[in-house]
Amino acid sequence: MNLLEVKDLSVSFKTPDGNVSAVNKLNFSLEEGKTLGIVGESGSGKSQSVFSIMGLLAKNGTASGSVKFQGKEILNLPEKDLNHIRAEQIAMIFQDPMTSLNPYLKVKKQLMEVLIKHKGMARKDAFEESVKMLDAVKIPESRKRMNMYPHEFSGGMRQRLMIAMSLLCKPKLLIADEPTTALDVTVQAQILALLNELKSEFNTGIILITHDLGVVAGTCDDVMVMYAGQTMEYGSVDNIFYEPSHPYTTSLLKSIPKLTDDLDSLQTIPGNPPNILNLPKGCSFEQRCYAAMQECKIKKPELINFNNNTRQRACLFQRDSYA
Ligand SMILES: Nc1ncnc2c1ncn2[C@@H]1O[C@H](COP(=O)(O)OP(=O)(O)O)[C@@H](O)[C@H]1O
Ligand SMILES: [Mg+2]
Repeated sequence: MNLLEVKDLSVSFKTPDGNVSAVNKLNFSLEEGKTLGIVGESGSGKSQSVFSIMGLLAKNGTASGSVKFQGKEILNLPEKDLNHIRAEQIAMIFQDPMTSLNPYLKVKKQLMEVLIKHKGMARKDAFEESVKMLDAVKIPESRKRMNMYPHEFSGGMRQRLMIAMSLLCKPKLLIADEPTTALDVTVQAQILALLNELKSEFNTGIILITHDLGVVAGTCDDVMVMYAGQTMEYGSVDNIFYEPSHPYTTSLLKSIPKLTDDLDSLQTIPGNPPNILNLPKGCSFEQRCYAAMQECKIKKPELINFNNNTRQRACLFQRDSYA
């Protein structure tokens, strides 16, 4: 059984200008101990997809479809049941660690409280377990730091602290929404290496959201590439890096800087994603696509499965090459 099985997940928002479809019929799954990358430019629906799974949509949002966690439907569960799952089985980390940390409480208070409340631990055990978790995320001088406030930590250390806090209850699934976007590249690499280690140590399934396909390469097993609320392409990292089947993926790959590149050869994708309030009739990527054909203006490409149902793509270009 898969840890997470998502079918036809959609999210829409009521706005004064009408209903907007922010996420359209996503289908993906995740096994224990594996990492799925969700990649796409800003506004493509990455965060709202996972917010819907966690029951964290804004009041004007509605989710439909199915999300099975360990075989049990969790989409749109009542708040009470979700609170239980969120605290103990699915954890989320954000770009800004202060979303989950309280600036006015000492680190030890914040960590220990999680264990006392959710695991019924005695104070002394909760203290020792918290220190162990700070060690696991490689925060130096963990005992001393238990007495500090979050603002006394550097950006990278604060990110580690949030990861430690989210892992205290040993969740089966960790959702990381752009956890390294605000960090410099060295610290980013350290945090990604840490997520990799934790995944093997605790057998956690991870969903890693990023706008940078470069981050996915060394970290993820599978990737879903999103654009304007839809899946453009989905498959294993190997398939997608070595044989991208969607021009959007190809363009994203060309915009990853490599050490060997001279700066002139870096290609950014011209233009901007469309306004989801007013999507084009045909393919939503058509206006920016190097391979666009006349047909793409009028026909929306369906998401099709290929490669023995291990991959998905939504594109009319070269459709016969992929079966
Ligand atoms: N509460 C809301 N009401 C209306 N539209 C929203 C709301 N929250 C998010 N959206 C829209 O949903 C789309 C997807 O957003 P999001 O998932 O946050 O993108 P990203 O891929 O950058 O994480 C965006 O166009 C955003 O403006
Ligand atoms: Mg986001």
